Formats: sequence, C-alpha cells, structure tokens
Amino acid sequence: MRRVTTTDLWHHYGRTRTERDRAVPKSFHWIWSQDGGPGAEALGDVTGQRVADLGAGSARHAAHLAALHGPAQVVAVDASAAQHAMATDLYAELTPRLRLVHADAVAHLLAVPDTYDVLYSVFGAVDFTEPYELSRAASAALRPGGRLVFSTLAHYLGGEPAEADAVAAELSARTPEGEATTMRRWVLQEHVWTKILDEAGFTGITIDLLPAAASGPRTADTLLVTAFRRISAPTRT
Ligand SMILES: C[S@@+](CC[C@H](N)C(=O)[O-])C[C@H]1O[C@@H](n2cnc3c(N)ncnc32)[C@H](O)[C@@H]1O
Repeated sequence: MRRVTTTDLWHHYGRTRTERDRAVPKSFHWIWSQDGGPGAEALGDVTGQRVADLGAGSARHAAHLAALHGPAQVVAVDASAAQHAMATDLYAELTPRLRLVHADAVAHLLAVPDTYDVLYSVFGAVDFTEPYELSRAASAALRPGGRLVFSTLAHYLGGEPAEADAVAAELSARTPEGEATTMRRWVLQEHVWTKILDEAGFTGITIDLLPAAASGPRTADTLLVTAFRRISAPTRT
C-alpha cells in the first residue's frame, strides 16, 4: 500500500551545495560518491529523446543532460517541495528543454502512458518507492523498447548486505521541524531487482556492480541497472 505523507523529509538535502555551486554540472555520475565511474553514456544516446529523471532532487543530472546532450526534453520529477523549489531556483532558465515537475513519480508515470524513451534515477525515486509499483508504472510510461536505467545501493551504508527479498528498511530521518521519524528505503540484491523488473514487463536486464572509489564509513558500492520495456506485453496464463 502507498504511504502518503505531507511531511517533506528531503527539505535539507543538497542545500549547502546549492549555496556555493549553481553551475550546470560538466559531468554526470552514477556512483554513490558522485566523483567517478561511468557517465551519461550509460543512458545510451539521448539525442532527440524524451527523458525523465525520477527523484531528480535539485535536478543537477537532468540539467547536465538538457544542456549538453540534445534530448527533446528532460523532465525532472521530484515529490519534495523543497527539492523542486531548489531545482527551479537553479535551472529554470533551461526550460523548455528541461521541465521541472513537482509530483510523485508513480503518479506522474501513470498519467503519461507510452511516452518516454528513457527513464532514469540516481539514488532517487527507485530507492524510496515500493519497487513493484514503481517498476510497473515505469514500464507503462515507456514506449515499447524504451529503457530504464538507475543507480542504487549495492549494500547498506553500514556495510550490511542488501535484502534477499523485496523488503524495505526503515531509516532515521528528521522532519523540517526537527522531530525524529523514519523513511523507507529499498536496498535489494541483484536477483531481486531482476525479478521485479521482469515481472513489470522489462527484458534485457543487466546489472553492473560499481565499486566504491574509496573505503571507509558511509562509502558504498553501487548497482547500475539497465532494463528495456518489452516490445510485446508478457502473456499470463
Ligand atoms: C537521495 S535524493 C537523490 C536526488 C538526485 N537524484 C541526486 O542524485 O542528487 C532522493 C530524491 O528522491 C525523491 N523521491 C523519493 N521518492 C520519490 C517519489 N516516489 N517520487 C518522486 N520523487 C521521489 C526525494 O524527494 C529526493 O529528492
């Protein structure tokens, strides 16, 4: 069941960086530390394509693609009012090639069937949304043959292994008023992502393990997942 909350648990995220760095990023990173590894080429050629970033945050990745890779449009979707406001403050001038949408990713995707060529997420909505629900919505919003690419944690930040089933962890968080609360995050093993995506109508699923660039606390390996919407719907008997 979908948990609906009006509390913005992402009110703080990226705020310090926004104060000192307002540029369109020159590079695109998938890995947790955002300082190396594969870049935008992992999305395939996005020239002339309709693209959406699911859980875009302040839209730095989306701004990079819109400014430097020639898509028809990149839609940066985020459910957080604070993140959407930050993205608008930073990159509104890239409109209309960059479109900033304040919405839940599942709701947005279900409203636009057979629309996108490429959907992606960098530790975004895919990590924080019930995965069967998000994957089915992503499959529906892609045109047949369209692709979903996302980076997600390969294990918990404390080093504990990812889950062997599609279960969420409850993480500590703070409300904007400073009260302690929790948010759900899905940290899943590779075979679990494969099963979820296969059942949601994806094929050609590949998962690369990208090792952390450094060792130490709060570093993490990354899973980079690519999947294509099946051309024909799966047959169910
Ligand atoms: C860890 S941040 C990553 C932001 C961005 N992708 C980046 O790399 O900087 C996670 C983001 O996902 C967004 N998010 C989580 N669940 C979402 C959902 N169901 N729909 C839209 N956005 C969501 C949060 O609001 C937050 O901005």
